[in-house]
Amino acid sequence: MRRLAPVTAVLAGALVLAGCGTDSGSGSGSGASRAELSVSGAYMPQPVSDSMAAGFLTVTNKGGTKDELTSVTSDIGEVTAHETVGSAMQEVKDLDVPAHGQLVFKSGGSHLMFEKLKRKPKQGEKVTVKLHFTESGTVTVEMPVKSATYTPKTGH
Ligand code: CU
Repeated sequence: MRRLAPVTAVLAGALVLAGCGTDSGSGSGSGASRAELSVSGAYMPQPVSDSMAAGFLTVTNKGGTKDELTSVTSDIGEVTAHETVGSAMQEVKDLDVPAHGQLVFKSGGSHLMFEKLKRKPKQGEKVTVKLHFTESGTVTVEMPVKSATYTPKTGH
């Protein structure tokens, strides 16, 4: 049941692929390095609802080119990115991952919203989430399900 190692391998493979070959898309910016993404701190609090869940993670871009998160998919249901505005949530599309920057989904702010769940994730399980980026393609993340009240430690 330990799936961390394969995921790391997938990520490393994706980065290697993104790093070699010639750019077929954005032609400008000669000398600027490609987007170089890594995902950290992914988790899903065990949902209290049968149909909805939230997920959090941080995408870090070490490269010199911005990337864009265009969609998120998962085998357990439909996923959209939401931002919190006041006490309401609204869907957001095409989220930027700035060059040398981060895209952060965290409790109280932006989050991944899982809806129409086919099953209810339980603490200790992992949920497979695919993040689709303009530059870097698909990055697969195994999101561990934590307790309903879990909050990550802040800081480094
Ligand atoms: Cu939401």
